[in-house]
Amino acid sequence: MKQQPVTAAALYKRLLGYAVPYWRVFSVAVVAMVFFAATDTGFAALMKPMLDGSFTERDPHMIRFVPLAVIALFVFRGLAGFVLRYVMSWIGRSVIKVLRRDLFHQLLRLPARYYDLNPSGRLLSRLTFDVEQVAEATTNAVTILIRDSLTMVFLLAYMFWISGWLTVLFLVIGPVLVILIRVVSRSFRRISHRIQDSMGELTQFSDEIIHGQRLVKSFTGEQWQEKQFEQVNERNRKLHLKMAAVLGASTPIVQLIAACILALVIYLATLESVTSEISVGSFVSFITAMLLLMQPIKRLTNINASIQRGVAAARSIFGVLDEAVEQDKGRLELSQAKGAIEFRNLSFAYEPAKGDVLRDISFSIQPGQTLALVGRSGSGKTTLANLLVRFYDPGQGAIYLDGEDIRSYRLSDLRTQIAMVGQDVILFNDTIAHNIAYGRPGEVSAKEIRHSAEAAHAMEFIRDLPDGLESCIGDRGVLLSGGQRQRVAIARAILKNAPVLILDEATSALDSESERMVQDALEKLMQTRTSLIIAHRLSTVERADRILVLERGRIVESGVHTTLLAKGGVYADLYRLQFREDSGRP
Ligand SMILES: Nc1ncnc2c1ncn2[C@@H]1O[C@H](COP(=O)(O)OP(=O)(O)O)[C@@H](O)[C@H]1O
Ligand SMILES: [Mg+2]
Repeated sequence: MKQQPVTAAALYKRLLGYAVPYWRVFSVAVVAMVFFAATDTGFAALMKPMLDGSFTERDPHMIRFVPLAVIALFVFRGLAGFVLRYVMSWIGRSVIKVLRRDLFHQLLRLPARYYDLNPSGRLLSRLTFDVEQVAEATTNAVTILIRDSLTMVFLLAYMFWISGWLTVLFLVIGPVLVILIRVVSRSFRRISHRIQDSMGELTQFSDEIIHGQRLVKSFTGEQWQEKQFEQVNERNRKLHLKMAAVLGASTPIVQLIAACILALVIYLATLESVTSEISVGSFVSFITAMLLLMQPIKRLTNINASIQRGVAAARSIFGVLDEAVEQDKGRLELSQAKGAIEFRNLSFAYEPAKGDVLRDISFSIQPGQTLALVGRSGSGKTTLANLLVRFYDPGQGAIYLDGEDIRSYRLSDLRTQIAMVGQDVILFNDTIAHNIAYGRPGEVSAKEIRHSAEAAHAMEFIRDLPDGLESCIGDRGVLLSGGQRQRVAIARAILKNAPVLILDEATSALDSESERMVQDALEKLMQTRTSLIIAHRLSTVERADRILVLERGRIVESGVHTTLLAKGGVYADLYRLQFREDSGRP
């Protein structure tokens, strides 16, 4: 991730920008805060008539007034507190919703490369954990900041009214607290950033074993995983403890200093009362106000932890939001491509340092033709297919569709032209019908879905499921077999009815019997489309119009089946190997 020197203040400002649209609601909260803060001063002020009027002078009017005033004050405080809490939560949850929406929007548009480089667990923790942390910063912190600052101002004003010079004294020593808070907040920021990373690690790790549970089981990797997890878990615990230590140590230190200030003021105030300048009631009122100051000061000290957590989380969230999204600068519209494809002098590297994965690739496919791509695993076949749908863009050279560079088309228009059945079938935790009609709910009829399922020979097994097409297939389709999943994916591609078809080892999980059946359907499909097929079994390639043989990212042979076989080169080698494997060991 890019590390930019963004200041905490800038981050917080940007974060507050998310709350700005709610300023109207926020002003209601501020009014509630003013009232709430005033009740503290009100309480301190009540001490004076209570002591002077009720106890000292036994004024019958005051004796009745004070208890009622106490109740009224707390009713008022309760109401203001309720409004305040509810309104601030309302704003906080709205900010969370907007941030999640923006993050989700961004996740959908980040380039494939970003996902290659960033673990999914960390991205998930941005969406769940970090967003909540941020809400804490925008609501709790803001509440405490405003409400408690107001409380302080009111109390100080009241104290000043009672005794100016005592208050001034208090204000002179007070800033010691502020400096202390500054020092403490710096270590908070460091630790909370590391806690976040550690949370991401934790999620990532768990995410991996949840999705890879079969692998863990079959390789009996439980102990090893547990040992690994122990480290991650322990690191998280230690970081939290470190945070607790800083928090736990800083609070009493700050309070001790506050207590010293209090003690000094009490001492001096009693000296003053000896000169009988202030009444007992005023003195108690002053001390009460000072004691009431402790809570807001304490909260304002601790608020730093929450703000720092929020800022650290905001940094991570904005880091994702500021990532460059997929390049989509093309303006050309394309509703139905003819399907002429050309690769011209194309080279591509995932990481320039590691060298080209594809080198100087040039070939073309006429509309309606079928091109087969063969080569050993790792030779770059999938990469080539991925370039055609612009999951990645080539470093050099270009790909043309109907004579135009594919980068000049609008990205969504380009992708609509291509139906792709990938090596790894991706299914969502939904019904089979919804998976087949993915991306077009309500647009396609049940009949069309059934048709595609039949063409993909998927209806055979779907019919046996309790709810047919409406059956749910579990997380990532785990309730289906590999071959069944592939047939659902093929049905999906058939339904998409796009002019270009890419099959990347689309039938690798099928047994020969079902493959033959699906192959019929696919061949019918290929007749009217431009097709790029990557096949693991060479028997499916034999009928292609042209075969390209890739080796280490280069095209080493090209031609039709019979000529390539006669040539006795790489293709012939692959074919012999394949033939032996298919028919069992000789
Ligand atoms: N997302 C990726 N990031 C970095 N390298 C990759 C990525 N995907 C594939 N590669 C590398 O590119 C090469 C070609 O891979 P691939 O196109 O998947 O081959 P094939 O489909 O022919 O088996 C391999 O060396 C592989 O390690
Ligand atoms: Mg591949």
